[in-house]
Amino acid sequence: MPKPIIINHTIKKYNKKIRVDSDKSLSIRFALLASQAIGKSKAYNLLKSEDVVSTINCLKKLGVKITWDKKKNFCIINGNGLNSYVYKDNLTLNGNNSGTCVRLLTSLLINSSKKIKIVGDKSLSKRDMKRIIDPLTEFGATFYPKNKNTLPLYIKGSDYLTPIKYLELKGSSQCKSSVMLAALLTPGETKLICKPSRNHTELLFKYLKIPIKIKKIKNYEIIKIKGKQNFKAFNYNIPSDISSSAFFIVLTLLSKNSKLILKEVGVNKSRTGVIEILNKMGAKINLKNKKNYKGEIVADIHVKSVKSLKAINCPSKLNTTAIDEFLIIFLAAAKAKGVSCFKNLEELNKKESRRLDWGSKILSMIGVRNKLIKNHGIKIWGQPNLKLNKKYEIKNYLKDHRVMAMSTIAALTLGGEWKIHEPESIKTSFPSFFKILQKDLGSKINI
Ligand code: S3P
Repeated sequence: MPKPIIINHTIKKYNKKIRVDSDKSLSIRFALLASQAIGKSKAYNLLKSEDVVSTINCLKKLGVKITWDKKKNFCIINGNGLNSYVYKDNLTLNGNNSGTCVRLLTSLLINSSKKIKIVGDKSLSKRDMKRIIDPLTEFGATFYPKNKNTLPLYIKGSDYLTPIKYLELKGSSQCKSSVMLAALLTPGETKLICKPSRNHTELLFKYLKIPIKIKKIKNYEIIKIKGKQNFKAFNYNIPSDISSSAFFIVLTLLSKNSKLILKEVGVNKSRTGVIEILNKMGAKINLKNKKNYKGEIVADIHVKSVKSLKAINCPSKLNTTAIDEFLIIFLAAAKAKGVSCFKNLEELNKKESRRLDWGSKILSMIGVRNKLIKNHGIKIWGQPNLKLNKKYEIKNYLKDHRVMAMSTIAALTLGGEWKIHEPESIKTSFPSFFKILQKDLGSKINI
């Protein structure tokens, strides 16, 4: 059992340029789509994190040939087209901690000729799978045991898949992408009506010339996909992850006299809510050197420390664009002048841990007044002069990587002595987190 870390120092002033680890959503989507393409696809900068490793290992078990040279930083996936997975007897696929891996990969098994067992770790086994079971059952797949909505589950595919009409109202990209991938294997036209969420799958479909039509009607998107169309292998250079960048953006904002440039970050509009929210709170975060890469926008993020932040009444329309960043945004709100309010975030308690509850718990622990609004929101009474000098302990958080990273940034900006258990949980999404803190930003964390 790796040891907890102790953090008992705040970060000193810095002026640096860094490159955080690659985007998790794009890395997993690259792997899944490449496994269904015809030919050798190559990714540069594929995220070397546990969620991506779990995805690659599942694909290997499905007979996909994959070479991942982590030193030379490329990954080659040999796809054999749609319907090319090999289904062995008694196959078990383990998504470990990754909801994206399981929810998206399962949709590519709806034509399996054998029963496949899908499992995950303690956190993933608590998460709702009904949200993918329902649409995938409509396509023609069968799940066992009947009426069970959490892992472990079995799926058995069908030779007679039928396209569906699907209404996605949670703003969940995992649900939307799951249906989009299932549509790839299904003859005819699948139609989705969705509340907007991150659109990496749509952009990749367009880039790969998979027949997709997207129309915006009021606050919804109508997506139509024509299935059973093979597509060619492709190369992809994965940009850095804005969700990982967010921890260092807030670290810089809350530190004194520091400046940071985060190089080549994916700043797709459907992901940049954290920048919009923090800028509304008084930060001056700028995007420079913007480029269009295969439909995605990549830019350098420039951020510097601020004298003060102001509270926000966060517009709910930004929720899906910042869904993985709320814990670190809550920390910024804890240091802002005034009372911040965040609402309609019921999805937050359905993540790797109950993140809304964890946000409230950590703020209460450090003496920041806050109030949960039913199961969907939080009010935070900010304390601009907040400084800590007591001992704090973070444990039993289901190894949620974002709880771990938020606590570390709290320790490095607010002071006190923090004992954080299971620091290895960060490897799920951001394996270089501590290395960047130590080597680039001069933190003395001993890990
Ligand atoms: C993801 C979508 C989000 C996010 C998750 C990754 C994706 O989940 O929380 O970390 O890659 O599609 P939901 O789509 O369920 O909100």
